[in-house]
Amino acid sequence: MTHNMSVDLCGVRLKNPVMTASGTFGSGAEFSEFFDLNRLGAVVTKGVASTPWEGNPTPRICETPSGMLNAIGLQNPGFEVFAGRDLKFLEETLLPDEEPAEEGSLALSSGMTGTKVVVNVCGHSEEEYLDCVEKLSGERRVDFLEINISCPNVREGGIAFGTDPKGVERITAAVRKAARQPVIMKLSPNVTSIAEIARAAEAGGADALSLINTLTGMKIDVERRTFALANRTGGLSGPAIHPVAVRMVYECAKAVRIPVIGMGGIRTAEDALEMIMAGATAVSVGTVSFHDQRAALGVIDGIEDYLERHCVPDVRDLIGCVR
Ligand SMILES: Cc1cc2nc3c(=O)[nH]c(=O)nc-3n(C[C@H](O)[C@H](O)[C@H](O)COP(=O)(O)O)c2cc1C
Repeated sequence: MTHNMSVDLCGVRLKNPVMTASGTFGSGAEFSEFFDLNRLGAVVTKGVASTPWEGNPTPRICETPSGMLNAIGLQNPGFEVFAGRDLKFLEETLLPDEEPAEEGSLALSSGMTGTKVVVNVCGHSEEEYLDCVEKLSGERRVDFLEINISCPNVREGGIAFGTDPKGVERITAAVRKAARQPVIMKLSPNVTSIAEIARAAEAGGADALSLINTLTGMKIDVERRTFALANRTGGLSGPAIHPVAVRMVYECAKAVRIPVIGMGGIRTAEDALEMIMAGATAVSVGTVSFHDQRAALGVIDGIEDYLERHCVPDVRDLIGCVR
């Protein structure tokens, strides 16, 4: 039986619903030694700002039960280096779209549609976000912009934009106006009502939402009697946050009409299918890639296997099937 694995993400077709999570996959170069990036629905890059950022002092990562804390602080080389190095790598590595064989035929899992590029954007201020978005708008190989308004590890920008509905609506509208590509707003779980934030982003003109970013946490090093991270707090990711993420994807998918991309602790196809059944159109595989570099492939193959076992002809039939 042939299955359709492709999904429509705000008018752009992904060959399958599996993407990487920003900041856990670089821009793919390190991972291309382990598998062909052309198997992915999309590559999501680490956050980039218009100018280079140093990030936070070390130590800035530590392990926790079933997860990790990070306080990288969005270290990045800035737009110029990113475009000349990372985007260039993706342009050289990812194959372009192929025309469907017949009009109206679906891009099947064999891969008619080229892997898409999602660039994650960060900024300390509205001006910085817009500056980076304008620069990226001129880049042909960028298919989507993902706007990180949810990083818990930077004092200005990041989460400061993502926790107030009015602020979310305003920054979304400004970015939407400046962007050429579809805009995905990346939401923080560190709020009382994520559905309210989701509605604010939709009202501002977001084309899609992605969630969740990391949950703020803290670890104490009892031998040294101090904080495990120099930043004191960090963002919790990995399997520990998966049930929280599924709940939030469900709430947001019910609250808005635009597509939702689900992430948070996905390790297996089963985890990804939970997100899809909760209402996600696509999913991102994150922290697990640090110890299993081929995890995203396992998720793709596992979803196909599920469709086969359950005689489901189209992955889209599963989106939001649990209501
Ligand atoms: C080391 C690290 C760096 C991250 N950097 C970014 C980033 O630059 N931009 C962003 O939007 N999210 C960033 N994230 C958040 C992830 O993209 C993802 O939302 C989160 O980790 C939950 O998914 P996971 O549990 O599968 O890792 C980062 C996460 C980690 C662990």
